[in-house]
Amino acid sequence: MVERQVRRVAILGGLRTPFVKAGGPFRDLSALELGKIVVGELLERSRVAPADVEQVVFGQVVPSVTAPNIAREIVLSTGMPRTVDAYSVSRACATSIQALTDAANTIAVGHADVVVAGGAECLSDVPILYSRQVAQALVAAQRAKSLGGKVRAFAALHARDLIPVPPAIAELSTGLTMGESAEKMAKENHISRAAQDEFALRSHKLAAAAWEAGRYAGEVMRVHVPPRFEETVAKDGIVRSDMTLEQAAALRPVFDRKYGTITAANSSPLTDGAAALVLASAEWARARGLVPLGYLRAYGYAAVDPAWQLLAAPPIAAARALDDAGLGLKDIDLFEMHEAFAAQVLSNLQAMASPAFAREHIGRSEPLGEVPIDRLNVNGGSIALGHPFAATGARMVTTALHELARRGVQTALLTLCAAGGLGAAVVLERT
Ligand SMILES: CC(C)(COP(=O)(O)OP(=O)(O)OC[C@H]1O[C@@H](n2cnc3c(N)ncnc32)[C@H](O)[C@@H]1OP(=O)(O)O)[C@@H](O)C(=O)NCCC(=O)NCCS
Repeated sequence: MVERQVRRVAILGGLRTPFVKAGGPFRDLSALELGKIVVGELLERSRVAPADVEQVVFGQVVPSVTAPNIAREIVLSTGMPRTVDAYSVSRACATSIQALTDAANTIAVGHADVVVAGGAECLSDVPILYSRQVAQALVAAQRAKSLGGKVRAFAALHARDLIPVPPAIAELSTGLTMGESAEKMAKENHISRAAQDEFALRSHKLAAAAWEAGRYAGEVMRVHVPPRFEETVAKDGIVRSDMTLEQAAALRPVFDRKYGTITAANSSPLTDGAAALVLASAEWARARGLVPLGYLRAYGYAAVDPAWQLLAAPPIAAARALDDAGLGLKDIDLFEMHEAFAAQVLSNLQAMASPAFAREHIGRSEPLGEVPIDRLNVNGGSIALGHPFAATGARMVTTALHELARRGVQTALLTLCAAGGLGAAVVLERT
């Protein structure tokens, strides 16, 4: 057997498109087109030649029927050699974290030196299906030998069978949507509407301030929207610099209209966008005089019963990532937490500081600790920036690494909740 040493994995660059509301300026595009745009530009900007890339790992949460292996299609349309290996991953909202850790593992064991990882989502372009009855009639018609047989295959269809079937938005195992599950967490963890609205306001204010100060300039590309290239999108489209608590308080709850607390303002919105990272072995980068943005130090994944608290796994994943890194929460300089809903972030923060949660769900007597709020999502989060499911993890990695450099500090912890009761966490370091 080959003796292997685990190699250090550097993140050389990261880039994303602006994130915009589904149905907005990217409404005529697909996830593949957004992925192509961001990977093409990232390779141009980084000092990595397309021919240096050995693998692409990319993801999309809402699957495409026409391009099921988005990663391979990106290789074939961005000037990389056609011999570059590629595969696609899906881990709901943590998809590009899965792409990152897969890519990192491949590099760590020496199977590749340079890998591109990322994700794209175009909720403007979700597949709309026909019913099973129509699908069966089509198969029967295709098999039929005569014209009469082909016509008979459709004879049993009813008008209701022709109603299009949208993609599932509810958890299969519980029947609850994400929003309904977040509502359950808000109630069980006693997260008030006011606390959620305040957290959402903070996300918008910090994101607006980051844009204003030019902090996103180096990590968000301009998109000249194909096919006519007449429209240019240069900034995120969802951030509200003028949001007020009064406006947020006036909104009706969406998922439990009578007793609920979750509204359009304190949820992440349905979003289009893409994000990508270039990873390399630290020695490959060093040999070429490239200065990485930072390094992946450790990661952890976790899962909870979706019927309990669907978005409660991030603190458990964080404990695993911190253990893997040999660090405690107090060693972390910067925190990036995916904001699916303000109620989920506030629940996760509460759980991280809770001895009972530590005992019952992490299997340790001490809680992880209090996350200092002034070091959490300091440039806004998914509520304000938007959440193109598969792109969010890569966005968070790039933003965290740039912010570590700006602050001259060393370590960041990222956490993400995901459908199915999943959680992901990574520890990044600057040097
Ligand atoms: C919550 C949700 C249903 C809202 O969708 P929507 O109704 O299309 O949202 P809109 O953007 O039209 O906003 C609805 C209203 O709230 C207002 N609003 C939205 N955000 C606001 C904010 N931050 N402050 C003040 N008002 C706000 C809008 O202006 C709009 O008002 P109007 O009706 O007077 O125009 C949708 O965003 C959603 O499903 N989000 C959850 C996505 C999800 O499950 N993600 C998974 C997480 S991992």
